[in-house]
Amino acid sequence: MDVSPPLGLLAELTHRCPLHCPYCSNPVELTTRDAELSTADWLSVFSQARELGVLQVHLSGGEPLARPDLPELVTHASSLGCYVNLVTSGLGLTSARLSDLVERGLAHVQLSAQGATRERADQLAGAKAFEHKLAAAALVKASGLPLTLNVVLHRRNHDQVAGIIELAERMGADRLELANTQYYGWALRNRDALMPTREQLAAAEPIVRAAIERLRGTMEIVYVVADYYEPYPKPCMHGWGARQLTVAPDGTVLPCPAASAISTLELSSVRETPLAEIWRDSPSFTAYRGEDWMSEPCRTCDRRGVDFGGCRCQAFLLTGDAAATDPVCSRSPHREVVDLILTRPGTSDLVMRR
Ligand code: SF4
Ligand code: FES
Repeated sequence: MDVSPPLGLLAELTHRCPLHCPYCSNPVELTTRDAELSTADWLSVFSQARELGVLQVHLSGGEPLARPDLPELVTHASSLGCYVNLVTSGLGLTSARLSDLVERGLAHVQLSAQGATRERADQLAGAKAFEHKLAAAALVKASGLPLTLNVVLHRRNHDQVAGIIELAERMGADRLELANTQYYGWALRNRDALMPTREQLAAAEPIVRAAIERLRGTMEIVYVVADYYEPYPKPCMHGWGARQLTVAPDGTVLPCPAASAISTLELSSVRETPLAEIWRDSPSFTAYRGEDWMSEPCRTCDRRGVDFGGCRCQAFLLTGDAAATDPVCSRSPHREVVDLILTRPGTSDLVMRR
């Protein structure tokens, strides 16, 4: 099979993070500091990724600012010709640190926010974070870098959608990602508490649609739907092993950020195997690439080129079989699993990320 090169590398530099968001999609078991890749390891990962064809490097975590070698990593990734994006909570971003990173070639900042008001946002972050985020957004704007604001939506903040859009405008964001929670990692254990109601989704829809129209040309708004409520699944990762790879803090290479949840997957590490070999030939990347792995109904479905059979992680987490049709799909024999989840009453029992 002809394998195209990946476009993007998600470099999860660390799992350490100052926030405690209950919707965190990182694994329940986090990598500890002493198991993280070294600076030299990451420099090698970036070089290998560029050689493989990667053009975008997303420095993420956890909180990437927790790594003292971040400046060196930015210098290297940008000197290779990559577009370097920092995905951050904003905590720890000072004027001096940002100026240094910009000088070293940082091209974009993606800042998270948890809600529209200080009270709600700090409650959902499990930390006093809101003021830091306002300050971080102001620093990014002053630096001249493009700013994306990313807000994960759920039952506890859906009512603030209009306020969140106003917040993004106040911050001067160039892009706003309103992403309904995806239920992987820590988020899965909070699913009943985070699942928005049908009414919440219906109320948000016209607000978001109107804002998209009103702000066209000023701020791009991307709305990621709550897929459990949809008739068809999301085209997760634009297909398995197709466009992006993730390197976890300990060097495990993942076909998608949540793939460590698929316990049947044989994962490879950059500590043992060259990145190109992992991308092209490893058991984990070849497992669900293309269409050969599909069974019915995906195998003969007219939408298989649109959604690639949906999400492998979701299929595994909900059916125990990563090769099953994503149960979100109305054509899946397992759709009842999702429908049953949607009939469950919400709970106020939110477990903060530890
Ligand atoms: Fe997509 Fe498979 Fe559902 Fe068809 S059957 S819509 S390919 S998930
Ligand atoms: Fe892993 Fe969708 S999140 S394939």
